[in-house]
Amino acid sequence: NTQTAVDLIGKQEVLPIYKPRDKFSHKGVFGHALIIGGSYGKIGAALLASRSTLSIGAGLVTALVPKCGFIPFQSSFPEAMIITDENDEWISNIQFNITPTVIGLGVGMGTEKETAEALKVFLTTNKTPLVIDADGINLLAEHKTLLPLLPRNTVLTPHPKELERLIGTWENDFDKLDKVKAFSKKYHAIIVVKGAYTLTVLEDKTYINSTGNPGLATAGTGDVLTGIITGLIAQGYDSLSAAVFGVYLHGKSADIALEGLGYEAMTASHIIENIGNAYLDLF
Ligand code: APR
Ligand code: MG
Repeated sequence: NTQTAVDLIGKQEVLPIYKPRDKFSHKGVFGHALIIGGSYGKIGAALLASRSTLSIGAGLVTALVPKCGFIPFQSSFPEAMIITDENDEWISNIQFNITPTVIGLGVGMGTEKETAEALKVFLTTNKTPLVIDADGINLLAEHKTLLPLLPRNTVLTPHPKELERLIGTWENDFDKLDKVKAFSKKYHAIIVVKGAYTLTVLEDKTYINSTGNPGLATAGTGDVLTGIITGLIAQGYDSLSAAVFGVYLHGKSADIALEGLGYEAMTASHIIENIGNAYLDLF
């Protein structure tokens, strides 16, 4: 029955989702993604997410980071555009004069009071599709009155601790899935439950990913996933397809990176470098 149906996602399942490019496409067709995050000492998280967004195929990427992020971004990632917050060390105001296709929010963002307030003001008027990760999720968990403000089909990508802050503790895997489904229904959100065999949940639908390996258990791979899903939505994939396909490509990149590298030496940057190979593996 549909209550317990779980689809295993492999290459055959993602092929119908994939939209190959045609010869006459130009960057305007592939969207403009905005990555919001980073804080003093964690600008790297926003950099990894922004790089992933562009490597997965978004046409343009802008990052909104605190002032301390300007030089690292501009000097190491020439393809990105940067908007800086007036605060040096954390996001204090979520405002921009661009019209992004999608926003990926939360990586390395911190949970300062000012950031929470900025998020609240932003969510009150925002209509742009969202992908929310890391401290973005932590802020939502801390301020649960913000949850009803999320646009329909917002993608949340919690790791186990972030999930617990969001939905509370669970007894076992069945109980966990029930609680995730109930949360997804309540807020009409797409929940990506990260770990080995990542689950993507929308209401009663559950997709279990088949790619990925323990090499992914390293700093920053979550930020890469956020960038990947954001960049797919920028290109016109609906949010559920972007989550399912993004989780698949992220794991496939890691599986390809494993060859000649092994689990221990794998880093988040290796995942980004292999996104192209993950796409090529579809052919
Ligand atoms: N097999 C397959 N995939 C795995 C495995 C595994 N054994 N272990 C981890 N992964 C994948 C997860 O599915 C997820 O996509 O690696 C990614 C890890 O994401 P996060 O847990 O979000 O890790 P990341 O954000 O990169 O780094 C640690 O989490 O607790 C916070 O403050 C901490 O920001 C820091 C971050
Ligand atoms: Mg993370």
